[in-house]
Amino acid sequence: MKNESIKVIEVRELTKKFGDVTAVNQISFGVRKREIFGFLGPNGAGKTTTIRMLTGLLTPDSGDVLIGGVDIRKNPIKAKMKIGVIPEMGNVYVDLTAKQNIILAGRFYGIARGELGNKADAILAKFGLLERADDPVKTFSKGMKQQVNIASAIVHSPELLFLDEPTAGLDVQSQRMIKTIIREMNQRGTTIFLTTHNIEEANVLCDRVGIINNGKIAAIDTPEGLKRTFEETQSVEISFDKPVDLSEIEESRLLIRKEKLGDKWRLYTDNPDKVVKYLAQFAQDHNLIFTTMEICGASLEDAFVKLTEDKY
Ligand SMILES: Nc1ncnc2c1ncn2[C@@H]1O[C@H](COP(=O)(O)OP(=O)(O)O)[C@@H](O)[C@H]1O
Ligand SMILES: [Mg+2]
Repeated sequence: MKNESIKVIEVRELTKKFGDVTAVNQISFGVRKREIFGFLGPNGAGKTTTIRMLTGLLTPDSGDVLIGGVDIRKNPIKAKMKIGVIPEMGNVYVDLTAKQNIILAGRFYGIARGELGNKADAILAKFGLLERADDPVKTFSKGMKQQVNIASAIVHSPELLFLDEPTAGLDVQSQRMIKTIIREMNQRGTTIFLTTHNIEEANVLCDRVGIINNGKIAAIDTPEGLKRTFEETQSVEISFDKPVDLSEIEESRLLIRKEKLGDKWRLYTDNPDKVVKYLAQFAQDHNLIFTTMEICGASLEDAFVKLTEDKY
């Protein structure tokens, strides 16, 4: 069960400018205990700038960040002990071994030297990397490097983990592995804040998604909630065995618009059920055979495109 009431991250009117560019513009939101919260936005939207402010790496121009109730500007060390950070570019030392990287991170967090060897081994074992523990990270694949990144960020067992585009630049296999790691950590109780420009990743991974564009939050909701907001992006895809005149269907007023895709038509509607029934009768009356007939639900992609359309 996700706890609905406790806010692990609380952000109020956070703003950061770089010269004339307002990278983050008065954003406010909260992240609940044990949820996977995704910040979804195109390149340059302000995701990395936000994550750097939330983790105390960058000082905001204005606004507040509370981590587990602790103000990160007033009490940075206390706040930082609660969190693990996996930055966009990663921060592994490639000349060191996997184990040395974790031990170094542990020293940074003040974990006693005596405990660290075992702790590092336990984390490496969890990630299936124990056999490679003593190999320099420069001999690792990108996916394995990212695992070491994550391993180093959780050595102090943080309750909250920040990941900036954790799967960007990885092959499909490694992406899947990283997503599994994120889910498993979440199931064991870690709250996750991640950024992504990958819509499907936000869709399958996140309990809630904030869509950020031009430094502003365009919407925050569950993936399903965001899709529902865009019911008019539902469609029915059809093709018949011979070319047809669709003007009759347009007269039915069931369609929002239609689009030709090769030999198929995509008919946008807020009521796919009615359109399908209409089409069945239409095919019957005109002696047509369906070669394709598919209902396509609203997608997070449609929601995303709508919400990030340039309004300026
Ligand atoms: N250190 C910086 N100096 C100047 N401009 C920056 C700096 N960091 C980010 N920006 C600008 O702020 C905006 C948001 O960038 P960023 O937060 O990196 O976006 P995202 O991570 O969503 O791709 C962009 O216009 C970017 O060029
Ligand atoms: Mg970024």
